[in-house]
Formats: sequence, C-alpha cells, structure tokens
Amino acid sequence: LEDAKKIVLKEDESLPAAVRLKLNNKSVEFGTRVKVYGRIHRLRVQKQATFITLRDGYGFLQAILTGDLTKTYDALVFAQETSLVLYGEMKKVPEGAEAPDGRELHVDYYKVLGAAPSDLDAITNKVSREQDPWEASMLDSRHLVLRGENAAAVMKLRQYVELAFIDSYRELDFTKVSPPAMVQTQVEGGSTLFKYDYYGEEAYLTQSSQLYLETAIQSLGNVYCIEKSFRAERSLTRRHLSEYTHVEAELDFIEFEDLLEHIEDLISKVVDKILANETSAAILKQLNPTFEKPGPFLRMKYSDAIDWLNKQDPPILNEEGDPHVFGDDIAEAAERRMTDIINRPIFLYGFPADLKAFYMQKDKEDRRITESVDVLMPGVGEIVGGSMRMDNHEELLEAYKKEGISADPYYWYTDVRKYGSSPHGGYGLGLERFLAWMANQHTVRTACLYPRFMGRCKP
Ligand code: 4AD
Repeated sequence: LEDAKKIVLKEDESLPAAVRLKLNNKSVEFGTRVKVYGRIHRLRVQKQATFITLRDGYGFLQAILTGDLTKTYDALVFAQETSLVLYGEMKKVPEGAEAPDGRELHVDYYKVLGAAPSDLDAITNKVSREQDPWEASMLDSRHLVLRGENAAAVMKLRQYVELAFIDSYRELDFTKVSPPAMVQTQVEGGSTLFKYDYYGEEAYLTQSSQLYLETAIQSLGNVYCIEKSFRAERSLTRRHLSEYTHVEAELDFIEFEDLLEHIEDLISKVVDKILANETSAAILKQLNPTFEKPGPFLRMKYSDAIDWLNKQDPPILNEEGDPHVFGDDIAEAAERRMTDIINRPIFLYGFPADLKAFYMQKDKEDRRITESVDVLMPGVGEIVGGSMRMDNHEELLEAYKKEGISADPYYWYTDVRKYGSSPHGGYGLGLERFLAWMANQHTVRTACLYPRFMGRCKP
C-alpha cells in the first residue's frame, strides 16, 4: 500500500479533450475520448486489468483499467459504490464479449471523487440481492437498496407511468389542480384518519382529494390531481400504505356508464404510452417480461360476484369462514382469488350502500345499492375506487347524519349541491397498486421510494 501511495496519476495532455457523456447517450462514435461520472456498480479485479461496471443513473458502462491505473492506492481500495470520473476512449466490445450497449471504455485517466467502504461496512454486507426487499433490514437500508438495478427500474417506470397519466389527461382535456393535504374533513371513514394539531384545531392528513375536486369542476370542467393521500391503516398487507400517491379525477355532467368508459379508456391510454416509449417499454420488459396489454374489462355486478364466489368448487368463503351473502365486504383475499381466477381486469360495480362511503349516489332502481365501481387487476386486486356522487342537497344532509358526522365542516362541499348541482362522478387510482400490477411487484412497498406503513416511518 505504501508503494501504491507513491503512484500519482496524471492526465496525458497530448490526448484529445474528453467529451462529457451521460451513459444513456448511445450516439457517441467509437474512437471518441470521453469523460464519464458515476459509481462502481460492479468490480472485477484480474491480474491484467480491473473491470468496472459504471452506473450513473442513466445507464451502465463497462470500463477497463490497465497498467499503472490499477496500481494506485485508490485502485487498490476500489469498492462497490466508489464514485469517480473516468477518462478514456470508447470502443466496441471485441467479438464474442458482452457489455452494456456493446461498448467498453478504455480508461487512460481517472479521479476518485468519493470512496466507499470495502470492509465490513461495504454495501454488499448491508444489502443482499438475495434478500426480500421488504424485510425489515432491507427496508432500513432502503437508501442503499435503491442503488440496485431492480429498485431503480421500478422507480424509473413509476416516473413514466406518472407522465403517461399526465399526458393522457391532457389529451382528454382535464385540468390538473392541486388540492390541500391538510384538511378538516374526512372522505373514507374516521377509522383511518391521521389526526394532528393545526394551531390548536383538530385537522387531518387528507384521505382523498375527491371532495375538493368536486368543487373545481364547476369552473374548470373535468379535473384531476396526482397528490399524496394518507390512511392510518391498521393492517399490514401487501397493498396497504399509510402514505400513497393517489391519481384522482372528477367528471361533470356524466352518467355512471360514462364513468366506466372513461376509466377503461384512461388505463388503456396509459398502458399504450408505456409500451410505445422505447425506454419505458424496455424497463417494463425487464421487470415484467410477460406483460401484455389487457383486453376489455369484464363487468361484474357486486351481487353476481357474491354468487360467483359461492359457486366455486370449493366455495371461496368470507373472513368468518362462511359463504358470502349480500352485504358482505368482499375481503382482500377473496377478491384477489377471484381476480386471479378470472385473470382479466374487472369492473366490480353496484356495491351495497352500507359498505360504501356516505357521498355515493344510490342506484335509481335499487336504493340498497350505489353507483360505485372498483377496478380489480390480476395479482393485486383493487386498484381503482370510484362512484357517482350524491347530487341532491337534502339527501346529502341525511347522509352526514347517517354517517354520524357534523355537516358544519362540510359546508363548502354541501354548497356543490346548493349552487347548480349536477350529475357528476369520479374515482381514485392508487399509483403504487397500478405499478405493482404492471411491474409485477409482490407488494406496493417496493413501488415507493420510501414506503410508509404501520410501524415504518424511516428512512
Ligand atoms: O377506494 P378508495 O378509498 O376511494 C377513494 O378514496 C375515493 N374518494 C377516490 C375518488 O373517488 N376520488 O381509494 C381509491 C384507491 C384504491 O382503489 C387504491 O388503489 C388506493 O386508492 N388506496 C390505497 N393504496 C395504498 N394504500 C392504501 N392504504 C390505500 N387505500 C386506497
């Protein structure tokens, strides 16, 4: 090591000036001298040469160091995640050899910018590719797990999915708004409210932006938002988070059927966009090689679903272990089994009013049920919840009473019915659930940068 410290690298001034390159830039010609910044993703030290797979967040590059370049102190303590800048000539990989994008960098000079530990603290001792990414120790090390190819691919796809929603809504002429996260009203029931002290008043983290979207359609037409929603879920399931990204929209002057058609059209547009973009299609293929655009959604009435569950051999039972009856909440396990057996997207609609939120419009023919819909996807189950909204003033006041909530804090929401009410409806889609479906993730936890669920609020 002492000898190694004596070796000082110097850039050869006679070489052509290096062009700075991001690793997704594939247009650079072979023979060009380039300069690339990144971190050591993989390291292979051989007698003749040191091989580095460099990662810069845009792509990967194989780099080869030879001669004195491999003998410096820095080189001897190279470790995964060491950050550096490499200079050298870009070359085509030799016949028969394989490297990312079929190229390799023949390094002539480098500088280490940030060393990484190679001892017990080495990243390879902190996170293991073999471990479940949602195990406690892996979740504690989420900041390091994110440096792995898989976690990074999910995060990249997530961005493309979000952009695809934004583009689709623009095509459909929806206006994007940004409702508040700090609120004093509940939407989806008191049991999952996060309460906090707001300058001495009780306030909540929003469960859904729906009520606010309903107040924006009168002047903006159809609207949408992509915001955080918060649920103090007490259950630790594969698909429940305490903080999630909620894609929500509200449509004015529509009927229930219009709502269903819109949701199917939107999801179809988003999938098309992901598949049409070369980069996102490649990431999707990496994560879920067998993904195919789903066919038309199956429409299934809640009451037919109850029959369907009971007709299976053996019957799919409810959480008490009994056959399902009208009025039962179809629990997560039963819902997922049904979706997996049917194996295509399902519009499950017409839920009993007693199971659903206070604001839902009742069916004109059958007042026991609501004009409500869930979209169920194979592998995940429910990814969308939506409905037509109660548009009658008196009926809404009754609904508050039945729910046991005071109408006072909802005065602005009630006014939607007072000042020119309209038949309208909307829905919310959990972005993490959508991603879990598309990217074939076992849980929504790996679809978040830093998942939040009961018992976890770090890192
Ligand atoms: O069915 P939900 O509760 O519906 C609403 O919040 C409506 N107010 C939305 C609206 O009409 N604007 O939630 C909608 C979707 C679910 O289908 C699910 O995808 C997701 O939000 N979701 C969750 N995702 C992760 N973790 C949780 N705890 C979730 N709760 C709901």
